[in-house]
Amino acid sequence: MKVLIVGSGGREHAIAFCAAKSPRVEKLYCAPGNAGIGQIAECVPIGAMEFDKITAFAKEKSIDLVIVGMDDPLVGGLVDALEAEGIRAFGPRKNAAILEGSKAFSKDLMKKYGIPTAAYENFDNAEDALAYLETASFPIVLKADGLALGKGVLICNTLEEARDGVRSIMTDKKFGSAGNRMVIEEFLTGREVSVLSFVDGKTIRIMTSAQDHKRAQDGDQGLNTGGMGTFSPSPFYTEEVDAFCKKYIYQPTVDAMAKEGRPFKGVIFFGLILTPEGPRVLEYNARFGDPEAQVVLPRMKNDLIDVCEACIDGTLDQVELEFEDNAAVCVVLASDGYPVAYEKGFPIRGLEKFEGAEGYYCFHAGTKKTEEGFVTNGGRVLGVTAKGKDLKEARSNAYKAAEWVDFDNKYLRHDIGKAIDEA
Ligand code: AMP
Ligand code: GLY
Repeated sequence: MKVLIVGSGGREHAIAFCAAKSPRVEKLYCAPGNAGIGQIAECVPIGAMEFDKITAFAKEKSIDLVIVGMDDPLVGGLVDALEAEGIRAFGPRKNAAILEGSKAFSKDLMKKYGIPTAAYENFDNAEDALAYLETASFPIVLKADGLALGKGVLICNTLEEARDGVRSIMTDKKFGSAGNRMVIEEFLTGREVSVLSFVDGKTIRIMTSAQDHKRAQDGDQGLNTGGMGTFSPSPFYTEEVDAFCKKYIYQPTVDAMAKEGRPFKGVIFFGLILTPEGPRVLEYNARFGDPEAQVVLPRMKNDLIDVCEACIDGTLDQVELEFEDNAAVCVVLASDGYPVAYEKGFPIRGLEKFEGAEGYYCFHAGTKKTEEGFVTNGGRVLGVTAKGKDLKEARSNAYKAAEWVDFDNKYLRHDIGKAIDEA
């Protein structure tokens, strides 16, 4: 089979790694990919939003399966564009990717179908949102409706902060058109868990749980980032939580989308918060998480291509997902200054130490290959992942491997997975 992956981050490197392991894949392409992906796939210089070029390339190369990793092309309808040309694609169509693409849509869906989530109101103008704040209690959460690189959520402790937040989202359009509408919702407390699943329109199969570390600095301080590290499984995702989510969240979400005439095929990422009153959905994503994929996929025993095809064909009920009975931790090596301003172009040393090191992975996010070798080329540079028999061993292995690599301006959090000590 010929497979094309769309995307360019650490997540797509993890997807490519899994796809390359499949005996069914004879040729792997990635658009646009990155330098690390280039070691296992042929990268083609086509942007993820260049739908016409992607479709033309897939036709020209007789691609058998396209796997779309990123949210923007999914929400924009890349799967629809490919299908219109008769090309098989893994990921939700545009009318289902709205589950991630519009927070107002997903909140209304949860309300309509009784799926547990924070209480909320949707607004399409700043005046109404500001008026609502007058009677609200704080802290309160403001969310731009559309995609905002994971940055469109503001937690406001005071009325004044919330007023500024509404103005920045809706009036100043800090997140662009993502802020044409917004959600204002109740602030919840509890541990957060990411749960990834495969869905074929009717059947849902849960992968395994994970936890992300979104803030830039140790102790969950500093700005929100795309994710500074992950661990899987989450020790807080107990059997009781799993049973609750299976009953009230997972299948109900899939059924709700089908009933709305928006059957979801692909990956649903449930962003959960375990409140004292029980699990609640914070958000849905319509794709693998980044860097959740980096700790979940290396633990999956199934052939990724088989599972993607079962989702497309509606035969997921015949698939049992199998995961290794171990753990994985991913520590992101970033450029100092991320997520604000940082320098690029520094040589990366030590990558060869991962060659042949079983259970250790160095997923590239922002790297570039030059004549002198790999250099840094982004805020998040690498996702160093290691497995272990349990979370503690995986964490110690991941931090050991994080020392194998070096570059100027290397920055990492030192407390990825610290929460497992409290489990
Ligand atoms: P989201 O993109 O909706 O997952 O929000 C990003 C982050 O904001 C989440 O991972 C949480 O840490 C936080 N957050 C979102 N919604 C809430 C909420 N209702 N209560 C507390 N924290 C929240
Ligand atoms: N790690 C969170 C996300 O992928 O949205």
